Amino acid sequence: MSTPAPQPTAGPPPAASAAAAAAETTRTADAAEAVVVRGVERIFAGAKGATVTALTGIDLTVHAGEFVSLIGPSGCGKSTLLRLIADLDEPTEGDIRVFGKTARQARVDQAYGIAFQQAGLLPWRSVAANIELPLQLHGVGAADRKARVAELVELVGLADFARHYPDQLSGGMQQRVAIARSLAERPRLLLMDEPFGALDEMTRERMQTELLRIRAETGAAVVFVTHSIPEAVYLSDRVVVMSPRPGRITDEIDVRLGEAAERGEDLREDAAFFEGVTAVREALHGPEAAAAAGAARGVDVR
Ligand SMILES: Nc1ncnc2c1ncn2[C@@H]1O[C@H](COP(=O)(O)OP(=O)(O)O)[C@@H](O)[C@H]1O
Ligand SMILES: [Mg+2]
Repeated sequence: MSTPAPQPTAGPPPAASAAAAAAETTRTADAAEAVVVRGVERIFAGAKGATVTALTGIDLTVHAGEFVSLIGPSGCGKSTLLRLIADLDEPTEGDIRVFGKTARQARVDQAYGIAFQQAGLLPWRSVAANIELPLQLHGVGAADRKARVAELVELVGLADFARHYPDQLSGGMQQRVAIARSLAERPRLLLMDEPFGALDEMTRERMQTELLRIRAETGAAVVFVTHSIPEAVYLSDRVVVMSPRPGRITDEIDVRLGEAAERGEDLREDAAFFEGVTAVREALHGPEAAAAAGAARGVDVR
């Protein structure tokens, strides 16, 4: 990151260079943020010329190292927003920066790791070979790949399963492989779309604790899509509440449960946790959210 050179002359700089300096400051500030979304809209073409406004007026900043959950009922645009950040889709309007780069450039530079609801493992490759894949694709040498895979299987607690194949693993284990793969290139940002959605409740809670531990170890920022209120509160520094038709951000709730490293299982019984759950539930069912038809449908309040 560069700092502007000091002004050699005394007195206020001319207006033009002041504007340039302001622009430079904005760029530098953006580069320090994991994600900056400004004025984003995504309109899909529907049947017979109809359109679906999946997202409108989306402004969102995710700081480096911050864990932000996107929560809202089915169809409010959570996946669309994540896909836009990951450059798997393009906004109709607005601008997206990932560590100050365009979404396209960030994807080319492998600035983030991705994990979705389905683990998406290659069945003919072992656990180790699945985790190794992104490293192989990007030309990392064999010795470095081997060392990194050894670290990663350890990190996700699968050291004894490195030679197993996906169909020999439980759903939770497959999901841990997918998370290890998303971490292979040490991303400073993880994009996760309901990664634990297909898991049973007990496995899911274990995976949440695991994710907090991994995140504390790597210091990565996380954008995490979920429709579970307790999951959002347990994991996040901030919960962003969305509502559908058209998809937009209606509220943001700071969760003050402390550092990821200190969030143990006992936190689920903690008064602060329940306060967070209540705050998010009220934000989802509050006047604004309730006004949008069926706003609470599809949201898991257990
Ligand atoms: N490729 C697409 N083509 C047309 N409509 C889409 C497409 N992707 C999403 N949508 C619509 O955009 C809205 C938001 O979808 P999505 O982002 O998947 O919501 P969520 O992940 O919150 O459930 C929905 O109405 C959905 O039908
Ligand atoms: Mg979705």
